[in-house]
Amino acid sequence: MNVRALAAKVLNQVVEQGQSLSNVLPAAQQDLSPKDKALLQVLCYGVLRTLPRLDFFCRSLMDKALKGKQRNLHFLILVGFYQLLYTRIPSHAAVGETVNGAKALKKPALKGMVNGVLRSFLREQENLIEKANQQPALVYCHPSWLVKRLQGAYGEQLAAEIMDNNNQQAPMWLRVNAIHHNREQYQALLKDAGLNSFSCEFNDNALRLEKATDVYKLPGFEAGWVSVQDGAAQLAAHYLDAQPGELVLDACSAPGGKTVHVLELQPDIKQMVAVDADAKRLLRVQENLQRLKLNATVIHGDASQPGSWWHGERFDRILCDAPCSATGVIRRHPDIRWLRRDSDIADLVALQQSILHALWDKLKPGGILLYATCSILPDENALQIQRFLETTKDASLIPLSLQDNSRRKVRQILPNEDGMDGFYYAKLQKSL
Ligand SMILES: C[S@@+](CC[C@H](N)C(=O)[O-])C[C@H]1O[C@@H](n2cnc3c(N)ncnc32)[C@H](O)[C@@H]1O
Repeated sequence: MNVRALAAKVLNQVVEQGQSLSNVLPAAQQDLSPKDKALLQVLCYGVLRTLPRLDFFCRSLMDKALKGKQRNLHFLILVGFYQLLYTRIPSHAAVGETVNGAKALKKPALKGMVNGVLRSFLREQENLIEKANQQPALVYCHPSWLVKRLQGAYGEQLAAEIMDNNNQQAPMWLRVNAIHHNREQYQALLKDAGLNSFSCEFNDNALRLEKATDVYKLPGFEAGWVSVQDGAAQLAAHYLDAQPGELVLDACSAPGGKTVHVLELQPDIKQMVAVDADAKRLLRVQENLQRLKLNATVIHGDASQPGSWWHGERFDRILCDAPCSATGVIRRHPDIRWLRRDSDIADLVALQQSILHALWDKLKPGGILLYATCSILPDENALQIQRFLETTKDASLIPLSLQDNSRRKVRQILPNEDGMDGFYYAKLQKSL
C-alpha cells in the first residue's frame, strides 16, 4: 500500500468527515511494517499541525479546488508539500511516491496534475512561504476562534508561545508502577534495554523518555510494571492522595489511566468505583485493570445523573476528570483544533457544571473532590471553579499537595511546561 495515499485517506476522514485521528489512524496502520506505520503517523500529524498553511499553498497553485470524489487528491498534495517542507525525504522521492499515490487512490489519470502542482511548489516555495509568514493564521495554524480565546486569556505573546508549543511533538512519559519498582530501579531497567530517560523532581513515579518507543519494548509492560501517561496527568493521583480504607470515585474514568494510578499509589483503599458514560471506552478501563492486576467496580453511567448508578454510600474522595475541550493536549491530538467548534465550549462548560454539582452531593462531609481538565481555557477551569465556589456554600479550596511548598490550591499547567501537557487542577473540600 502506498503510505502517502493512506495518509491522504486518513486526513480526508478527519478533516472532511470529522472523525477522530485516534480512531482512524490505528485502523489505517494495521497491516503496515513498523517503518511505514511511523511514516504514516508523521505525515498525518504533520499535515494536521500545518493544515491552513499547506491549504494556502495548494490554493495558490491551483485554479480550482479538488472536491467530491477528488478530495483525497487534495490531501495527497498536502502530504507532498509536507514532505518537501518538513521532512528529510529527498524531494525526488517525496514527489515520486506522492505522484504514485494518485494511482493507489484510483485516480491514475490525475498523476500528471499532482506531479505538476508539486513541481510548481518546488519552484515557487520561497515566495509562497514569505506570503504565508505575513498572515498570523498561517503562522499559528490554529482556528481563529481558538487564537482569539487564547489571546484573550493569556495575552498575545504567551498565546503565541502556547500555539508554538502545541505544534511541537510531545515527549513520551512513563509512570512506574510503585507496586513493582521504584523509579530509579525501573530507570536502570530502561537503560539496560537501551532506552534513556529523565526523572522529574515533582513526581516520584514519572519518567520522560529521550525518544518515544513502542510500548512492547518497555521492560515488563505486559506484566504491568509501567504505563504510558503524560506527566501532568500523573499529578492527579498524587493530588487526590487517597488514604487507606477510603471509598473513592473516579467519575469520568475511561480509559482508566488515573483510576489505576490511584490504586497503584494506594492499594489499601476500601473500594474504587470507576464510572464513565462511554461503554466502549470503559472496556479500556477493564483492560488497564487487568494488565496491572488491580480491582475496581466499573460502572457505565452518567456522572451528572448519579441517581441511576450510585449505590447509597457517599464517597471520601472523588476525582472529576471532566469531559473538556482538550485544548491542553493539542500536541498529542493535532486534529482537536479542527474538530472542535467555538460553540462546543459553552456546551462543555454546562456539562462540567452539572457533573460537578451532582458529584458534590455524593461526597461525604469533610470529603475531597479533585477537579481536573486537560483544557487551557479559563471558562472550563478557573471560571468554572470560581462559579462553583460562589454557588456552593459548603465548598472551599484546599492545597493540592502538602509536599508542594507553594501550597497552591489550583494549578493551570500550560502545554510543554516541564515537558507536560496542558492541564488544570483544583482541590475542593466539603465542610463537616
Ligand atoms: C478526560 S476523559 C477521562 C480520562 C481518564 N480520567 C483517564 O485518565 O484515563 C473524560 C471522560 O469523560 C467521559 N464522559 C463524558 N461525559 C460524561 C458523563 N456525563 N458522565 C461520565 N463520564 C462522561 C468521557 O467518555 C471520557 O472518557
